[in-house]
Amino acid sequence: MKKPLNVGMIGYGFMGRAHSNAYRQANRFFDLPYELVLKVACARQKEPLQAFAERWGYESTASDWRALIERKDVDVIDICTPNHLHAEIAIAAAAQGKMILCEKPLAMNGAEGRRMVEAVEKTGVANMVWYNYRRVPAVTLAKKLIDEGKLGKIFHYRAKFLQDWTISPELPQGGAGLWRLDVQAAGSGVTGDLLAHCIDTALWLNGDLASVNAMTETFIKERKHNLTGKVEKVGIDDACAFLARFKNGSLANFESTRYARGHKALYTFEINGEHASIAWDLHDLHRLQYFDHRDEGQVRGWRSIHVTDGDHPYMGHWWVPGLQIGYEHSFTHQVADFVQGLASGKPAEPTFRDALRTQAVLDAILQSAATQRWVAPEM
Ligand SMILES: NC(=O)c1ccc[n+]([C@@H]2O[C@H](COP(=O)([O-])OP(=O)(O)OC[C@H]3O[C@@H](n4cnc5c(N)ncnc54)[C@H](O)[C@@H]3O)[C@@H](O)[C@H]2O)c1
Repeated sequence: MKKPLNVGMIGYGFMGRAHSNAYRQANRFFDLPYELVLKVACARQKEPLQAFAERWGYESTASDWRALIERKDVDVIDICTPNHLHAEIAIAAAAQGKMILCEKPLAMNGAEGRRMVEAVEKTGVANMVWYNYRRVPAVTLAKKLIDEGKLGKIFHYRAKFLQDWTISPELPQGGAGLWRLDVQAAGSGVTGDLLAHCIDTALWLNGDLASVNAMTETFIKERKHNLTGKVEKVGIDDACAFLARFKNGSLANFESTRYARGHKALYTFEINGEHASIAWDLHDLHRLQYFDHRDEGQVRGWRSIHVTDGDHPYMGHWWVPGLQIGYEHSFTHQVADFVQGLASGKPAEPTFRDALRTQAVLDAILQSAATQRWVAPEM
């Protein structure tokens, strides 16, 4: 019998489902040193929580996260709540000696993020942030190719994350499902929600950013607030674009919006190096596009690598070569890496400290947009 690792999940929405599925699958597809146990699901609304707990097989439910983090039979606290609750829950859970898996962005801002890092480092609890795109096999393969020097010196990095779901002025802000439009719950708009993913991937693949120059826009200035019933000013950014310089000398541009009609979750990046380029697209997430100038001229061209072979990252754990996997598997990979990190003593990344670097860039972007100046992230 493997030693159990008891999970207490806070929040049962989109990420609550994605993570529950990952905990259910990880031991089936990976040979892990601990058995993940869905111990407690926690949220305030009793009935939907009960239905969630039954569907996913949680042993029990709880309505108060403060009582949950004190329970002796819970080892890991998984924070799947809106952003404004991440810091308070994580700092309290660290004081109780719990391991913490926190959804992204780490915090509402860098100052809050620093307090979270101090809390987990002071008590030495294992910690990780769910920047799951690192563990899409095609993205992990991109990291491998870059680290092997296949691209040579990197000149350009460009990333986009485009959606179109907030174009209607009738859409209210605040409350269940729409907390992303409420600055009090979200901290920022597309910057912290979508660009945070692009930045985490970029720092991981291409190193730290030296400076950023950003612009943001809030297209719909007022929306009804679901919690107050009144029409209130919208405090989030609806769109953000920024130019940046990496410390390795490469130039970058990033763009994110929820007003790109026709795009639902189009996260793309392209990296151009001296010898080769790579490109990836979330809508076709199991493929990596690769161009190598060193190929023989007459057959040189972009190749579309179907990242499904047994020697591709993570793929040996799934089906047979040629059969692709999807979005949800990135979370399963993250759970597996976290558990393996506990056993090996080499923590899975991104830790809170790693995610604080992304938070510093988010702060710099918002500061640059407000002041119309280049800003260096405070790493
Ligand atoms: N990694 C990713 O790709 C990804 C994708 C989506 C969301 N997220 C992040 O995950 C987090 C949650 O987003 P979501 O889309 O799952 O939101 P959601 O609105 O679907 O779910 C939020 C959950 O938090 C619960 N909650 C709110 N206040 C609570 C409280 N005081 N105590 C206990 N539970 C409470 C709600 O009941 C709900 O179940 C956010 O930080 C978001 O940025 C990450």
